[in-house]
Amino acid sequence: MATTTWTRRHVLSLADFSADEYSIVLQTASSFREVLSRRLKKVPTLQGQLVANLFFEPSTRTRSSFELAAKRLSADTLNFAPATSSLTKGETILDTAKTYLAMGTDMMVIRHQQAGVPQAIAMEMDRLEARVGILNAGDGQHEHPSQALLDLFTICSLLDPDRPALDLLNGKKIAIVGDILHSRVARSNIWSLTASGAEVHLAGPPTLCPTLFAQMGAGRPGKLSLHWTVEPALDDADFVMTLRLQKERMDQNLLPSLREYHQLFGITRARLKLCKPNVKVLHPGPVNRGVEIASDLMDDPEFSLISQQVTSGVAVRMALLYLMGGGKV
Ligand code: NCD
Repeated sequence: MATTTWTRRHVLSLADFSADEYSIVLQTASSFREVLSRRLKKVPTLQGQLVANLFFEPSTRTRSSFELAAKRLSADTLNFAPATSSLTKGETILDTAKTYLAMGTDMMVIRHQQAGVPQAIAMEMDRLEARVGILNAGDGQHEHPSQALLDLFTICSLLDPDRPALDLLNGKKIAIVGDILHSRVARSNIWSLTASGAEVHLAGPPTLCPTLFAQMGAGRPGKLSLHWTVEPALDDADFVMTLRLQKERMDQNLLPSLREYHQLFGITRARLKLCKPNVKVLHPGPVNRGVEIASDLMDDPEFSLISQQVTSGVAVRMALLYLMGGGKV
């Protein structure tokens, strides 16, 4: 596995990820996918290292996926649950992180409802010269790098299972549909997909898909466009990424009703007829069935990559932990 050019101690954002870094992650994840297909799905790589999952916000798949990834690499894991922690007694987040540091944590996987928290912890660890790797597992509406990397791995593996690579996306059309405004998954995916030669089309109602997103495409290898109707984004698309309507982040009435949203932007079989015949649909989960995607479509393996995304997630997170922990940069 290629580790020689990996120099990143923390993975906080994909905004400045290089083509080489994408290719190292894809290659390494591909090796770990092979490990996960064996009867003995475990390697000793991170034996003796400690990975702490600090999830200040609810999560099912990301938290379990990081925990499993760490265990498959033979690391020890600690899981933190805010409701039963000293946060309830007024401890600050930085003090919580320093407590885990004092126990000898090598990597911290951090999710927080506030953008910038993983970055703040990373800066504090660097200030303390602690050599701890920080992985952003979703911060507010900012970024969710490991999700975008697993989406990329899922797409590239479908295009070439033996050599998942960024250049496979050259000329492919990818639609990202829904609540772009509140989505950290969309932001990280915009960075990763526009790092390739793909054509990325954002679509959502104007209240959830503001024009400032179009600027994220400036100076990137891929092309980024924005639409306030779904049809131009779906037209001839190779992949459609649907996003959950983040109702918990909507403090105003940004939508007339969920029914109208589904009518205008919901991904259905009828709408997929606009796309390429072998189009595939992704969704990061959790899904509002019948809102952003028709319930039956979500379960149809002919179109849906949702369970492959979950499976890919473990290999991709193993790759990230391996690269960050193995090299000890
Ligand atoms: C996403 C998240 O938490 O950002 N889910 C995930 O990690 N798989 C998307 C969402 O909550 O809609």
